[in-house]
Amino acid sequence: MKLGILASHTGTNFQAILDACQSGLLQSQLAVVISNNSKSPALQRARSAQLPTHHLSSVTHPDPADLDRAMVSTLQEYHVGLVVMAGYMKRLGPEMLSYYAGRIINIHPALLPKFGGKGMYGSRVHEAVMKSGDRETGVTIHLVDSNYDTGPIIAQTRVQVLANDSAESLAARVLKREHNFYVETLTKIVSGEISLTNCKVAE
Ligand code: GAR
Repeated sequence: MKLGILASHTGTNFQAILDACQSGLLQSQLAVVISNNSKSPALQRARSAQLPTHHLSSVTHPDPADLDRAMVSTLQEYHVGLVVMAGYMKRLGPEMLSYYAGRIINIHPALLPKFGGKGMYGSRVHEAVMKSGDRETGVTIHLVDSNYDTGPIIAQTRVQVLANDSAESLAARVLKREHNFYVETLTKIVSGEISLTNCKVAE
């Protein structure tokens, strides 16, 4: 299965997936990396690995409908079968959601439906977890729909919140778990052990 990566910033999840593909742990081919941020470290990581990269954003395509179409046609050009969002912070357009329906996944650094939604990304998620007093948080991998963090859940793993945690220490521990969990879950999707058609919306 050919994977297309969407990433906006650092790209450490993308790097974990790339490493797993290169080592053979994940039996997939990374076909293309798309970023809305031309200066993202994620794009630099992809170039270092000699992967095809595309910067597609409101800068390259001011009309959202054009951008939506360009994303679909770029992914088609590389025969992408599964779209993997790895720290991609933009909502997707209707063409993307229709053409790749049920084949776009995202990772979120909390146990959705808690601590998700518009504006809930990066340190804000972990600050909110700390403030809530919850003793556990985690990682969610879910199918993508037209809203932020609301699509059917594919897999979750739990991470303990420790008594002496700060938002930063918690963020670091969750991110480390994300890397293994994304690769593990992708491996199960690619092998057919996880079916993307049986996922449920969390309540
Ligand atoms: C990750 O923690 C990912 O879960 C989060 O952005 C970070 C990207 O890190 N995504 C979201 O919050 C989506 N709502 P990375 O660029 O180093 O992979």
